[in-house]
Amino acid sequence: MVWPIMLHLILLDCAIELIPRELRSLKQIQQFCSRRKKQPNSVLLDQTYHGTAMLRLPDQERRGRPDITYLTLMSVLETPLCKAGLLSVHLHLQDGRIIEVQPHVRLPRNYDRFVGLLEQLLETGRVPPKGEPLLRILDTDLANLISSLKRDHSDALTILASENGDLIGPRDLPSIFPSSPTTPIVFGVGAFPHGDLVSSAASLFDRKVALDPDVMMAWHVCSEAVWLYSYSLNVSSDMSIGSTSG
Ligand SMILES: C[S@@+](CC[C@H](N)C(=O)[O-])C[C@H]1O[C@@H](n2cnc3c(N)ncnc32)[C@H](O)[C@@H]1O
Repeated sequence: MVWPIMLHLILLDCAIELIPRELRSLKQIQQFCSRRKKQPNSVLLDQTYHGTAMLRLPDQERRGRPDITYLTLMSVLETPLCKAGLLSVHLHLQDGRIIEVQPHVRLPRNYDRFVGLLEQLLETGRVPPKGEPLLRILDTDLANLISSLKRDHSDALTILASENGDLIGPRDLPSIFPSSPTTPIVFGVGAFPHGDLVSSAASLFDRKVALDPDVMMAWHVCSEAVWLYSYSLNVSSDMSIGSTSG
């Protein structure tokens, strides 16, 4: 039986972009890109390598951290929930674009190869260039994406993970899940290093919850949500629902 996807994870304001125009002519950027044998407009901005140049950018503390998205994807893809077809994942970039991640994508284990995939994606709109896209930029915005994920369920729940939300321990998170297991949940988590969401994303969510009084890493928040949701559905690694074998 094909089960409808029920947990929709959206990584919000992902710190992913190609090197912006205002930095491309800088000597340090040119040197970095020539070592990679690429043009600056085809290279991902990365705080690890471009930190000094990034000091010139507005909002620089929120940008150039593709590793946050990488670690988060690594922690939620290939989980039992994902393998059971019950998880969807989308990336919302700081410029508003939306990327669909095929849940069965097996991402490279090597971070540099992941960066190469994102560069290709941002340049061409999809990866791979031909055949079934594993990652692709959708022609939609965040508000429309959320509406389509709710799939006409008036009781669909949208939850924003936020350190400023209502403090609810991770163990109690399932208590706010909808009572029907087929009701979709849209779960938003920021995938940027510092500060608050700058996009209007927060206003699109019904509930704002903090899972800890301290700031958490995005990949920890996502892992907790995915695993707690799996336990609430009793999804086990044999990819069935309702199994009690753990
Ligand atoms: C590292 S935080 C973002 C930056 C953070 N405001 C800071 O200044 O360091 C990444 C995301 O994780 C989620 N998050 C962080 N702490 C959380 C908490 N205690 N409870 C729930 N979600 C949290 C939020 O969605 C947040 O946008």
